[in-house]
Amino acid sequence: VVIGLKLAVGGGRWLLTFVRATTADHDRIREFLSQFLDDYLSERFPQYLGRQPGGLYLAMDGDQLVGTCVISFPKAKQALLSGMRILPARQGSGVGEEFGRFQLAEARKLGADVVRVLVHQDNQTSAHVLQDKLGFQIVDQWAVGEINPLPNPETRPPEASMAWAVDRDRVASFIKQYEQDLWAPEVWDPVSLNLTDLNLRFETGGVAVAPQHGDVEALAFTSMQSKEVLNISYLRTLGQAVQGLLDYLWNEARAWGINRCRFGVSAHAAERLRSLVPNTEITWRGLVLERHLNLTAAEG
Ligand SMILES: CC(C)(COP(=O)(O)OP(=O)(O)OC[C@H]1O[C@@H](n2cnc3c(N)ncnc32)[C@H](O)[C@@H]1OP(=O)(O)O)[C@@H](O)C(=O)NCCC(=O)NCCS
Repeated sequence: VVIGLKLAVGGGRWLLTFVRATTADHDRIREFLSQFLDDYLSERFPQYLGRQPGGLYLAMDGDQLVGTCVISFPKAKQALLSGMRILPARQGSGVGEEFGRFQLAEARKLGADVVRVLVHQDNQTSAHVLQDKLGFQIVDQWAVGEINPLPNPETRPPEASMAWAVDRDRVASFIKQYEQDLWAPEVWDPVSLNLTDLNLRFETGGVAVAPQHGDVEALAFTSMQSKEVLNISYLRTLGQAVQGLLDYLWNEARAWGINRCRFGVSAHAAERLRSLVPNTEITWRGLVLERHLNLTAAEG
């Protein structure tokens, strides 16, 4: 289905169309992505084919595939753009900008209020296109990494614990100080943090606080991935209690037979982990760029 038709910049040198990919496009997408070395998308793109809402989109110049991108919704009304790849021979001639405008319009059509993109710290081209051409702003720095193996702390006084509904008020007043914070249900998918997220997590577990009583000084959201990896999806620290919180988490993980941790968190939290925990490696650093969609009626 052709869902967008635009004349590219530069006086109509080509006609770009933007289409939502289906499983029938699998082979040509695989061939297209093979031009990009060590690209995680080559392995992962099939999972986006047909995914709703959003999915994988193609930029076509006639029959020629000239670009890909993924639009996903890690949270209602919050879109995440990723997987933007432009045919190397066409890079730098405005295809990315044009495709980007389509992605914003499509995300809005699918109900997004806000769109985010993670950009590697060395990717100045992407940062330039997103900020200077498409109106995105930097809202955070992001880091992905792992701790392997986890420390094996001696048993400590119980300074930290899981938080439950009884802790709601003190945890809520802690996160109210950080209303701009992002957290990541999946390491690559930052979303905004609010009280609804917190309430949901109280129901499912995975909120750890320190100290156990009184004002919260450190808060983490965690989950266990197939009983092999501890995921840290949010970490905020204020005082000294963070060491107790981390030791508590490592003890809990080890009790489950887990000795590895993976995190996708704001860079300040990742640096805190690195300074406090041996064997912490940050494997990816970059920017979170954000664009609100309710400010203007139309793109371009
Ligand atoms: C980043 C990317 C998507 C941008 O698409 P594009 O079609 O090249 O973008 P545009 O032509 O619209 O704009 C590129 C801008 O960056 C500038 N630029 C600087 N260095 C560049 C480079 N090495 N390659 C391309 N553009 C470059 C261009 O001059 C242009 O800016 P200007 O119009 O102000 O002069 C594309 O280059 C790409 O696929 N890169 C490899 C994969 C990647 O990094 N994906 C993004 C992951 S977040």
